[in-house]
Order: sequence, then structure tokens, then C-alpha cells
Amino acid sequence: MLLLSFEGIDGSGKSTQARLLERYLRDRGRDPLLVREPGGTELSERVRTLLLQEDLAIDPLAEMLLFSAARAQLVADRVRPALQAGRIVLCDRFYDSTTAYQGGGRQLADPDWLNGLHRRVTQGIVPDRTYLIELPPSEAQTRRTTGRTDPSSAHRAGATSSGATSSGADPSGADPSGSSSGDASGAGPSPADDRMETEDHRFYRRVADAYARLADAEPERFLRLDGRNTVDHLHKTIRADVRSLLKEKTDR
Ligand code: TYD
Repeated sequence: MLLLSFEGIDGSGKSTQARLLERYLRDRGRDPLLVREPGGTELSERVRTLLLQEDLAIDPLAEMLLFSAARAQLVADRVRPALQAGRIVLCDRFYDSTTAYQGGGRQLADPDWLNGLHRRVTQGIVPDRTYLIELPPSEAQTRRTTGRTDPSSAHRAGATSSGATSSGADPSGADPSGSSSGDASGAGPSPADDRMETEDHRFYRRVADAYARLADAEPERFLRLDGRNTVDHLHKTIRADVRSLLKEKTDR
């Protein structure tokens, strides 16, 4: 019925927002499906383990195909059936991650080739809205290595990316899954970093730039959010948008 995806570089806070929205919808009597990528099915979780294992060398093309394989299974087994059953589906990452990380970060394949692959893999399913949580790579890195931080609540509200200010250290921005939060301080990857998270600053800069290009190319689908805003502010912006999307659907 409605497909919403959450995108951003590691440490941007997108998983927190996906979970907050799931709870919000549930509290209002809906039955949303929340899935994460890579993952969400037995096969996809096994592929995730392979992909994120730090000691495994994976060729960039193989990496792209593995992420896509995990997605194909997830779409076939869960996403498509849920949409057909009239449910709201929340995807913590979807095919834009592959365009940003493998296309942009790994500098692999041209956009047309990638778009063709995505269409096949997702059976043509496109999110109704993609929430892109943008955060400067250096700030995301700090969140990953020193524990997640939530920007000061005094920080300016807004749904676009601009004007850096310093962040506070409120731990409420922590990713509740704890799936990848590093806990070491200082430079360099923390012991909890997975294979992707050990990539350097330039890699994440390319990923962030690729996301920005995607958002520019599809302004109706993407809602760009400044990840330096508070968790609560971001959540309120997202849920207001979801309410209007749902209204559009029912008015149609
Ligand atoms: P994610 O689950 O968001 O990370 P975490 O739970 O550790 O915060 O994503 C796992 C990693 O996989 C992340 O570094 C992004 C990367 N990734 C890709 O490179 N390509 C893809 O297509 C997807 C879905 C994820």
C-alpha cells in the first residue's frame, strides 16, 4: 500500500527513525512491516553476515550482486506480499543504498546499468517516499566511534541540509538495535566496526555525494532531512509527511 525507505550513511540515525515511525504507526492501529537491508529473510540475513564480516575480502562487483541478491529475496518473500496485503512497509535501506555505496562509494557501474539491475531486483517496486538523513561524514564517523550522539535540542529545526553547528552528546540518539555502534574513542575504526564501516572518509564522502545526486534527481520521492536535528524533531517531520502521504492515498 505504501512503501517508505530510510537512507543515509552509517551513523546518520536512519534506523532510529525507522523504528520510531514503526511504533508511531502501530500505536495508531496500523500493522506496518519494518525490514532492514541487507536482511529480513533467512537467506538475506546469511548474506548480510557474509557481507559485513570484516575478515572477508569481497570483490566490488560481487559485493553489489550480493546486496542485490539479498534484496531480491526480501522483495519476493516479504515486501511485495505485504504491499499487496495493503500494509505500510518501512525499509531501513533499499536499492538507493546500492547506488550510493557500490555505485558512488566503490565507483562501480554507470547509473543506467544500476537502475536496470534495481528494477529487476525489486520487480519494479519504487518507494513512495525515501527519507534521506544527511550528516557530514566526519560527524557520522564520530557518532560511530564514540557512541551515537543526538544533536542539542537547541539546534535549528528544518528539513534541509545546511549550516553546521556543533552537536551535543545526548545519548538518546543511540541506535536502539545496537547492531553496529562502536564504543571505542579516538580515530580509526572501533572494534565493533563491520567490513563496510572500516572504509575511510573519502569513501563516505562519495557515498554522501551519491545520495545527494539521487535526491536531486528525484525530488518528489526524496525528503532530505538534516541529521544534525534532534531525534524528536526528525521523527515529527517524518510522521507529518507520512500523514499527508496516507491522506493522499485515501483521497485518491
Ligand atoms: P546497516 O544495516 O544500515 O548498518 P548498521 O546496522 O551497521 O548501521 O547497513 C549495513 C552496511 O551495508 C552499511 O555500511 C551500508 C551497507 N550497504 C551497502 O553497501 N549496500 C547496500 O545495498 C546496502 C543495503 C547496505
